[in-house]
Amino acid sequence: MSTAVLFDRYGDPGVLYPAEVPDPVAGPGQVVVRYTAIGVNPIDWKILSGEVRAYVPMDLPGGCLGVEAAGVVVEVGAGVRRFRAGDHVIRHGRPGTFREYEAVAASQEADELTLRPARFTDEQAAVLPVAAGTAYSALRRVGLRPGERLLVHGASGGVGAAVVQLALLLGAGEVVGTASPARHGLVRASGATPVGYGQGLSERLAELGPFHASVDCAGGPEPTETAVRFVADAARRVTIVPDAAAHARGVPFLEHVPLELTSTLDLLGTAPFELPVAARYPLEQAGAALAHSLRGGVGGKIVLVPGG
Ligand SMILES: NC(=O)c1ccc[n+]([C@@H]2O[C@H](COP(=O)([O-])OP(=O)(O)OC[C@H]3O[C@@H](n4cnc5c(N)ncnc54)[C@H](OP(=O)(O)O)[C@@H]3O)[C@@H](O)[C@H]2O)c1
Repeated sequence: MSTAVLFDRYGDPGVLYPAEVPDPVAGPGQVVVRYTAIGVNPIDWKILSGEVRAYVPMDLPGGCLGVEAAGVVVEVGAGVRRFRAGDHVIRHGRPGTFREYEAVAASQEADELTLRPARFTDEQAAVLPVAAGTAYSALRRVGLRPGERLLVHGASGGVGAAVVQLALLLGAGEVVGTASPARHGLVRASGATPVGYGQGLSERLAELGPFHASVDCAGGPEPTETAVRFVADAARRVTIVPDAAAHARGVPFLEHVPLELTSTLDLLGTAPFELPVAARYPLEQAGAALAHSLRGGVGGKIVLVPGG
């Protein structure tokens, strides 16, 4: 038996509970992965609340959250050629990683598992898919070119930190990132010029703008307002937070992007890239970890540690 964190009805993080479940067995075309690090994302509490059930339906009771993790292949099912026992892998995509062991489809078409590049620790690998994959897609969408100036709203968040670092890898001339003052050091460390959000933002940005493109990783009226004011071309603005008002004003939502992890890893190559990890929780305390993400002000990624 091993641990999985489950929920039986939609609700707040308090409805999550650790359960002892039978160890999975690798069926044909599957491998069993033992997770060593599991990423926590805002999408987890959005799924848990039921607000996205129309496009991420969960089988309840006994639902399991978690859309990314890293670990080691411990069993290989019949017909699997891509992975061997002992391989370090990254799991991404459909919910279900808040557990110690999982049987995962191994095929390329299923697109749930990728070999972990040796340069990353399991912890860094576990937090790559959502943050770096989304950042890559957003930068492709706005067509960032070398030498250009980029505005990033929410630059201290998981996705925002990845957008800043990837933009600089793509040759951005300057990246300006909004964040709370407490996180300005973090934003500067990723390579961006930090600017405090809140009252007076437009005036502060006026001294630094205009920008060729913008990526909003925070959502809300202020990021929308300033993206419209400081980026002339609507095709070069995007938000990753669904918001009908932003869409109507010319800041479209980056919708249902396939996680372009392989392309992202190719782009990263051996270049320095590290996402700040702000908090670690034992897997059994996934509810507390989600409550932390929901409260905000995290200052980086949150990681669940099985057996931690
Ligand atoms: N469309 C997609 O495919 C996609 C993919 C991934 C994530 N998302 C969504 O994108 C959002 C961000 O995700 P995440 O993982 O980066 O979350 P996160 O790590 O919790 O970061 C959110 C960041 O937003 C900042 N923030 C809050 N209010 C702000 C404001 N008014 N102006 C500027 N920044 C502000 C916070 O900064 P401070 O801590 O400095 O206050 C925080 O760093 C979530 O809503 C998530 O669900 C969408």
